[in-house]
Amino acid sequence: MQPDPEPRSNQNWETTAMGVTDTTQQAFDRAQELKQFEESKLGVKGLVDSGLTSLPPLFVHPHETLSTLKPARPKPDSIPTIDLSCCDSFRRPSVVAEVGRAARELGFFQVVNHGVPTEVLDRTIAAVKAFHEQPTEVKARIYRREMETGVSFFTNYDLFHSKAASWRDTLQILLAPKLADVEEIPEVCRNEVLEWNQQVQRLGSLLLGLLSEGLGLSAGKLQELTCLETRVMLGHCYPYCPQPNLTVGMTSHTDPGVIALLLQDQIGGLQVKHGDEWVDVAPVPGALVVNIGDILQIMSNDKYKSVDHRVLANPNREPRVSIATLYNPSNSENEFGPFPELVSSDKPAAFRQFTFSEYKRRFFTKELGGKSLINYFRA
Ligand code: OGA
Ligand code: NI
Repeated sequence: MQPDPEPRSNQNWETTAMGVTDTTQQAFDRAQELKQFEESKLGVKGLVDSGLTSLPPLFVHPHETLSTLKPARPKPDSIPTIDLSCCDSFRRPSVVAEVGRAARELGFFQVVNHGVPTEVLDRTIAAVKAFHEQPTEVKARIYRREMETGVSFFTNYDLFHSKAASWRDTLQILLAPKLADVEEIPEVCRNEVLEWNQQVQRLGSLLLGLLSEGLGLSAGKLQELTCLETRVMLGHCYPYCPQPNLTVGMTSHTDPGVIALLLQDQIGGLQVKHGDEWVDVAPVPGALVVNIGDILQIMSNDKYKSVDHRVLANPNREPRVSIATLYNPSNSENEFGPFPELVSSDKPAAFRQFTFSEYKRRFFTKELGGKSLINYFRA
């Protein structure tokens, strides 16, 4: 018997049509909600301050993400804390070995005795927190996504590229090569940001030296390739989240740049993927967190690992504050790729050569997360 195609195709058409109408409607509603949220310039903190008790649908993450949000198993020693004291003298070989091992195996480590006084750490966190705790209308004046002035306040840099928004606001300040207009840096944190910039320049140079040597290269190698010259500071605020099991503070991602240096307060929530497991990067008083970015994994020809990390939504009444400094090459038209010294017949180049401007273009047109950026440049 010949199947009668008519009714069946009709039925298919109806189902599909309903499906399409449904998702089109959902996409439309979401776009409206996004637009409204963006135009309100409230930020997530502003929503919380307005007394909101449940999550706007915009922030609800899909089941695949939410099902992994179990608290990480306590593994206090899995992210090493490396003592940097005397690393310019007699302890250098052992510090280089520790830094190199952490960069190869985990892609993450913490550092203590890094030379930044505790008062400076505390002051910087307090100043960024004070910025986010200002009234909404004060912060709204710099709510923008354009970077001309080098200073902007926004919710999720990938708000318009992601499937779900994350429970986090950011004050972004360009530190180098061209420091933001000083007058544009909010007064509540201006002096502290300028002081932080000095510290991250010095510490960045020290860390890049250790990481270069950890690859068997001369200490100045990464800096010669301009890896210290572009620095952006992200002053994140993870406000109290009324439904922390429906969203995240930051989705799982790898950092695109050379390295990231993170100052976090004592609340916690940062997790790193180690194998199939999520591991907490527990706050260590006085420590700074360092992690390898995609570009350094590429330059190291896969020796160093740029690993996935994320931040859980903050269930505490007190906002969590963290300050990430991202180090990038400044020479956008130079070619990047694995160091020739690290390429051999045993270990052929794992990535092709590319310019940093090509890399940036790719980064800013996709959602934060996954390995798709680095894999795009694989040989
Ligand atoms: C980042 C990041 C972690 C944190 O800014 O890329 O991973 O704890 N931040 O805020
Ligand atoms: Ni990151």
